Amino acid sequence: MVVTLENKAISSKQELSSEVLAKIDSWTAKYPKDQRQSAVIPALHIVQDAYDGSLTSDLMDALAAYLGMPNISVYEVATFYSMYEHKPVGKNKLSVCTNISCMLRGSDNVLAHLKTRLGISVGEMTEDGKFSIKEVECMGACGGAPMLELNKVYYENLTPEKLDEIIDAVK
Ligand code: FES
Repeated sequence: MVVTLENKAISSKQELSSEVLAKIDSWTAKYPKDQRQSAVIPALHIVQDAYDGSLTSDLMDALAAYLGMPNISVYEVATFYSMYEHKPVGKNKLSVCTNISCMLRGSDNVLAHLKTRLGISVGEMTEDGKFSIKEVECMGACGGAPMLELNKVYYENLTPEKLDEIIDAVK
């Protein structure tokens, strides 16, 4: 027997808040009414930011239902891009680029300094939940290598001293 989803979203167990839905609506309004799914990328950011920085399957199902798209299509987008999280992360997520330009300009030292300073490894979160470290591919800021992204802000030409300043500023 062949089961066809007919491009329909499967119902979800979680409801998105009205505040979150209003933000998503501001994006869906930019597209034709029958193309609401075009807003999936910014909508995933909105949901992730509103629910502790990571996307559970219930949240993705709820978003799929709201945008009227198959759950699997939301999962495909959410697992393709490194900016989406699927397990708890620190309030301040340090995404360190280790791709070629950053690697040639010392990203290994950047990571080593962060790990020592925070006492955690890549993929881990500090005990107080304030910081987590993530290793990412090129973020398009090669001219300022080595770089990292923290709370949607890029920090470039990093040195251990600059890293300490960045950490101190958010502590
Ligand atoms: S290689 Fe790091 S930003 Fe491009």
